[in-house]
Amino acid sequence: MACSVPTGWAASFEVRVLLFLEHIVRFHQSRSIPEKLMKITVVGAGNVGATTAQRVVDKQLANEVVLVDIVEGVPQGKGLDVLEAAPVEKSDVKIVGTNGYAETANSDLIIITAGIPRKPGMSRDDLMNTNSSIVKSCTQAAVALSPGAVIIVVSNPLDVMTYVAWKISGFAPHRVMGMAGVLDAARFRAFIAMELNVSVEDVNAFVLGGHGDSMVPLPRYSTVAGIPITELMDAATIERLVKRTRDGGIEIVNYLKTGSAYYAPSSSAVLMAESIVRDKKRILPCSAYLQGEYGIRDTYVGVPVKLGRNGIEEIVQIKLNKEEDEALKQSADEVRQAITRLKL
Ligand SMILES: NC(=O)c1ccc[n+]([C@@H]2O[C@H](COP(=O)([O-])OP(=O)(O)OC[C@H]3O[C@@H](n4cnc5c(N)ncnc54)[C@H](O)[C@@H]3O)[C@@H](O)[C@H]2O)c1
Repeated sequence: MACSVPTGWAASFEVRVLLFLEHIVRFHQSRSIPEKLMKITVVGAGNVGATTAQRVVDKQLANEVVLVDIVEGVPQGKGLDVLEAAPVEKSDVKIVGTNGYAETANSDLIIITAGIPRKPGMSRDDLMNTNSSIVKSCTQAAVALSPGAVIIVVSNPLDVMTYVAWKISGFAPHRVMGMAGVLDAARFRAFIAMELNVSVEDVNAFVLGGHGDSMVPLPRYSTVAGIPITELMDAATIERLVKRTRDGGIEIVNYLKTGSAYYAPSSSAVLMAESIVRDKKRILPCSAYLQGEYGIRDTYVGVPVKLGRNGIEEIVQIKLNKEEDEALKQSADEVRQAITRLKL
């Protein structure tokens, strides 16, 4: 059978159609999420852990979620409850609760939320050492079966617990990070939006430093539709919002009486998870191990990082003025001192 070869305008039209189709294919390839869906383990099925697992399932960030806790029945019950919500949420993600680690094998992402809250008469260092042994045992058990995972730590005291998980895992620092800055920035964003009566979507904020009293909110880098808040509010108002952000955790503890915040903390951990799972390369403030960046060494502290499939892909160094630089170094020093008091 003779094959007709297009000539003239028909040929150039065909070439243009082919080029257009190739363009569409390339566009979709560049935007599509990695083929392989993830397995995510959440350790600790308390308020933060269970809500984190629920959000992961609802957002379909994995095809499998494992929820682990030491209390018998709790991860199984909460896991089943989330699974039963999945048809309503239109999620086909499988979630299972367990008291062991066998089911967690080959996880791509491990989110550690296990820990105990401070009890009356307990010093900060007592709490640090108790949670350190919890994070240590969880990390050991989890990484033994998932040697290729990325770890996000949520347990407090955050920066020190992230150091513990890194040290115990033996992982490269870019694969172990802590969640705090995203939460602190979210709180700052919420307060800025409330103050100016604008959409939270238009508000960006940066909070660096350790999680706690020494956090370093950066008003100069916090914006509404790209305009620094220093041009939209007077210094006293900014200081009031900064203080409320710094006390954001305790404000909620005071309302709840027992327990602490978990809706915003789980949202924040899941935002980090999403950037990793979907390889989004978002720039988010996370607790990262510094090796000379910002003039800080050998400690975890909150700085902006690029988060992708391999964990921290870059530590982003922004220009700080003298005051901000000193505050960040002071905050890092406090974390380093706590690490030296740690009984690992
Ligand atoms: N980084 C942050 O910004 C941030 C925000 C909120 C809470 N947190 C911290 O997250 C942690 C969890 O908070 P929460 O409100 O969910 O507390 P929670 O008490 O509700 O839950 C903690 C869970 O950890 C479990 N657990 C204890 N030891 C364990 C072990 N060895 N293995 C597995 N599970 C174990 C407990 O049984 C409990 O279910 C706390 O340390 C809290 O201070 C951090």
